[in-house]
Amino acid sequence: MIDSTEFDTNETEWRLRVFDALSFPTLILKPDRTILAANKKFLERNNLGDRKIVGRTCKSIFSEDQSIKHLACIGANCPLQRVLQSKQNQSVVHKNITADGDINWEERVFSPILGENGEVKYVIESLRDITKIKHLEKKYSDIRQFIDKVLQSSVSAIMAADRKGEIILMNKAAEDLFGYSAHDANFVNIEDFYPPGVAREIMKKLRDKNIGETGKLPSTQVSIINKNGEQIPVEMTAAIIYEDGLEAATAGIFNDLRERQAVQKKLEETENQLFQSEKLASLGRLAAGVAHEINNPLTSILLYGNLMREKIEENHPLAVNLDYILEDAERCKDIVKNLLAYSRQTRPAKDVFYLNNLVSESLRLIRDQKLFMNVKIIKDLDDCQILVNADKNQLCQVLINLIINAIDAMEGSGTLTLRTYRDREAHKAYIEVSDTGSGIPQENLSKVFDPFFTTKEVGKGTGLGLSMAYGILEENHGKISIKYTGPEGTTILLELPEELISDEFQFMSIG
Ligand SMILES: Nc1ncnc2c1ncn2[C@@H]1O[C@H](COP(=O)(O)OP(=O)(O)OP(=O)(O)O)[C@@H](O)[C@H]1O
Ligand SMILES: [Mg+2]
Repeated sequence: MIDSTEFDTNETEWRLRVFDALSFPTLILKPDRTILAANKKFLERNNLGDRKIVGRTCKSIFSEDQSIKHLACIGANCPLQRVLQSKQNQSVVHKNITADGDINWEERVFSPILGENGEVKYVIESLRDITKIKHLEKKYSDIRQFIDKVLQSSVSAIMAADRKGEIILMNKAAEDLFGYSAHDANFVNIEDFYPPGVAREIMKKLRDKNIGETGKLPSTQVSIINKNGEQIPVEMTAAIIYEDGLEAATAGIFNDLRERQAVQKKLEETENQLFQSEKLASLGRLAAGVAHEINNPLTSILLYGNLMREKIEENHPLAVNLDYILEDAERCKDIVKNLLAYSRQTRPAKDVFYLNNLVSESLRLIRDQKLFMNVKIIKDLDDCQILVNADKNQLCQVLINLIINAIDAMEGSGTLTLRTYRDREAHKAYIEVSDTGSGIPQENLSKVFDPFFTTKEVGKGTGLGLSMAYGILEENHGKISIKYTGPEGTTILLELPEELISDEFQFMSIG
């Protein structure tokens, strides 16, 4: 209920009461800055009590009266003149340093009161203390800057997109990973950063209640596509950012897996090599022992068997059986010879020779030339003479085995390609032996370098060729690997350190 006596009060008094009730310190000024009135809040705020300020200019009291601690004249920044010209509200933010050294911020708003002819008759100046707001603004801006620094210094790539998939945030690591600057990324949709369908799949998983917490995607491996169109494997986590319960954006954190995968691969290779070397070494010792033990009885079997063969007639009923015994004993002799070669513990003899010569000599050394009858041989040899420093005889043995393996795989007909080349910068020399044979089945790939692994019929292969080759290459600081195997055939790659030739060396004879 409104008290009816309040309506009796005359209007001028009402206005004065409203003026005093305003929560902002307020002055009414004449255009020449003379103070016409100051409200209660203004007097209280400035401890003015009953001091007379009406009739003085605001400039005189703000600048000269040292007892007015809160206020200072804003001098050239005073917008009063602009109010007179524009006849519109004008404001200015002013920083005061109080006598106690505190900083406070004040917004001074100047509003014109127009006369009958539209001229500015009075100006209301109200002062608002915005110190708290300013402090909050500063705190907010400090926090923002800090978060920005954390984001930018993160080694993980961080990116956020709005609901339409437009990029709204990209840190430095994300710029490096995706290859876009944060500015360029504004023109790319998030879907373009993934192979087709992957972005949608990620969103589906994010919303799936059965995968982690809704709106969060636990660490997942995916591929992203950078600006050059390259697919890069990454490990990512993602989250939906909600505002008032509604999806507002998505954010993702990405870690490039390329380096980790390369290290992992190298580690696996090293482990494999170590495993293979250990296996070869222990098998070598075993083979040497067995071969040695068998060698003596075998020598007597062959000796006495041959003596017997000489003594019995050609048409003797036991002659055929004796021939079988001698044939198999010969085969055993070959196996023993191979075993002894395999387990050889001598250090390789070093020769400096041309890689191309090694290829030609190995081909020449294959005794059973009719093996090549239906095989086309392509010699794709490097024009530059590539020098290596290794045991030539051992490498010949390796190459012969690879060539025979290739011919076996082609069952006698196909194309055998022998290629030599080098990597000048890495100082590596290469020989490739390629065939158009049946290829090595996937399940045998991890076994072909194992001693005694063979798919050849009994008596044809001992399964020592590749494992010997492995050991020989290792001893000669090289490597043997399967470069390709599949329906089109197999390519075995030999890698050796290239010998760097010095000038005086050129005049020496090289094999
Ligand atoms: N070029 C090739 N194409 C297809 N399979 C191959 C090839 N080279 C080797 N292999 C497979 O690897 C196995 C092992 O080869 P490795 O040279 O060690 O022994 P082998 O040829 O069977 O016998 P050995 O060489 O002792 O006479 C072979 O039996 C064959 O199954
Ligand atoms: Mg072989």
